[in-house]
Amino acid sequence: MIKTKITELYGIKYPIMSAPMGPFYTTELTVATSEAGGLGVLSHATLRGKNSVSDFKTQIEYVVEHTDKPFGLNVRTARIQTDHKILLRKIAQWRKENPKIREQLVYGLTSAGGPRTASKIWKERAPDMSHLHVGPALWLVDKIVDAGCDGICATGTEGGGHQSYEGISTLVLVQQVARKYPDKLLVACGGFSSPEGVAAGLAMGADAIAMGTRFIASNQSEFHPNYKALIPPATARDTMLTTGGFGPIRLLKNKFCLEHGEVISKEDKINQEQAFNMEEYLDELYRYEIVYTKGDVEDGAIPVGQTCGLIDDILDVDDIITTYTKEAEKILKNLCSNIS
Ligand SMILES: Cc1cc2nc3c(=O)[nH]c(=O)nc-3n(C[C@H](O)[C@H](O)[C@H](O)COP(=O)(O)O)c2cc1C
Repeated sequence: MIKTKITELYGIKYPIMSAPMGPFYTTELTVATSEAGGLGVLSHATLRGKNSVSDFKTQIEYVVEHTDKPFGLNVRTARIQTDHKILLRKIAQWRKENPKIREQLVYGLTSAGGPRTASKIWKERAPDMSHLHVGPALWLVDKIVDAGCDGICATGTEGGGHQSYEGISTLVLVQQVARKYPDKLLVACGGFSSPEGVAAGLAMGADAIAMGTRFIASNQSEFHPNYKALIPPATARDTMLTTGGFGPIRLLKNKFCLEHGEVISKEDKINQEQAFNMEEYLDELYRYEIVYTKGDVEDGAIPVGQTCGLIDDILDVDDIITTYTKEAEKILKNLCSNIS
């Protein structure tokens, strides 16, 4: 058994988490991951609908009805994610009101915007919940630590979905963060989908490994079958950084992605945001909507990481978590036994 700061603190069996993947729902995936002994993480899936706050509450209640194990959630704190401030407060309130939510909701991950407001609200109203923020580069990790977060989800450029403009690999980033902030909780994320990856992440100093693309290609995730089917045949060259609502986004190269083109510069993106165009924003939401509801994987947006080049099959979540951890243990033991 591999013990880390995170397995001990959260009371989980394996140091593996599912990554949040809004605006897609990961409610079933969260239950399956937590039930299997990892930490399932609910997505901020509510770009897509009205009633986003009550929708999130429904997801949380569903999880605590279907598992007694710990879990986490993600809130995107970007400016255009207009429900984030109310959500941060409501999450703290739901924890206070419902003992089961308080006991099980151990991990709040913020991303896509700044960590400061969330840190202030959660430190005051949910001090017993760990607050981590996604950090894509060391200078941004400094800001996360400065904001008082308990830890960092260090996510490198090979990962699927939204990315920063920094382009730092997970390999470099995780080592930098582990070296500079050894006392903080550290989740390594982006590019992990194998036992070797889990072993490598732990060896670099991570307390847990988060995987997104690997869990999309699982039997329990609620992604459309057409989406899942694209992952095993895809190679590591089949993704591209294009421009999304929060900045660069790594998508599978399909018709939509190729038409959208390479990522625009940070300056252009800021100008684009300032000239906010409701039609473009709604079109982007529509690109996810058609993937989710109709499985349109040509005209829709398909976020995946380069790690799809390592994934050959659709597996059970339970299998991924237990096999990967046990194989990672073997790899680490073999390495130790080779040291004379
Ligand atoms: C479909 C999809 C949607 C994502 N949406 C979010 C999100 O809403 N919030 C977030 O913090 N990260 C999001 N991400 C990034 C993941 O949390 C994670 O960083 C990424 O999947 C890690 O790379 P991997 O896919 O190689 O495991 C998304 C990733 C994918 C693939």
